[in-house]
Amino acid sequence: MSTISEEKPSDIRDGEIAVPLPDRADAAVYFIGRIRTPWKTRQDCPKNARQARETGQVCTLELDPRWVPGLRDIERCSHLVVFYWMDQARRDLAVQVPGHLGKGRGTFALRSPVRPNPIAMGVVRLIKVDGNRIEVAALDCIDGTPLLDIKPYYASTDSIPDAVTGP
Ligand SMILES: C[S@@+](CC[C@H](N)C(=O)[O-])C[C@H]1O[C@@H](n2cnc3c(N)ncnc32)[C@H](O)[C@@H]1O
Repeated sequence: MSTISEEKPSDIRDGEIAVPLPDRADAAVYFIGRIRTPWKTRQDCPKNARQARETGQVCTLELDPRWVPGLRDIERCSHLVVFYWMDQARRDLAVQVPGHLGKGRGTFALRSPVRPNPIAMGVVRLIKVDGNRIEVAALDCIDGTPLLDIKPYYASTDSIPDAVTGP
C-alpha cells in the first residue's frame, strides 16, 4: 500500500496529492493499434466525448493487422466502446485540482487522463470498417494515442438514463 508523499513535486497544483507508485507493475497490456485524430496536442483535444462528437470530426482506429479477424461482425454494432491509453498522462496523483473546478477531487471521482492506469473510454458511432481501419465519430485524444480495446455498446445494459453526478 502506498503512502502519501511528504514532499510536493513542483509541477503539481496546490491541493493536489501525489503518491509513490508501486515498485513494479502487476500486469502488461498489448496495444492493439493507434487512434488517428485531428488533434496534435492535449490542448487541441475536445475535453470529453460529448465535445468530441460535437466537432463532427471523424477519427480512425488503426488496428494492428494481426487483430483484423477480431473485427468480424462488428458492423452489426451502431456504437462501440473504445478503450485507450493516455500515454502522456502522469500516473501518481491521488487528488487532482482540475482547472475548471478549482478544488481538489479524488482521481477516481474524475474522468481525468491522470490516473494510476491511464485508461480512457469513449462511446462512439461506428461509421465504416475498411480492412484494419475503423472510422468512428469521434474521440477526445491526441493523434497516435494507443488503442487498448473495442467492445460493442449495448444501450440495453450500458445506458442508465436516470444516473446522476452531483456538483
Ligand atoms: C478528460 S479526458 C477524458 C477521456 C475519456 N473520454 C474518458 O472519459 O475516460 C480527455 C482529455 O485528455 C487529454 N488527452 C488526450 N489524449 C491524451 C494522451 N494521449 N495522453 C494524455 N492526455 C491526453 C486531453 O486534454 C483531453 O481533452
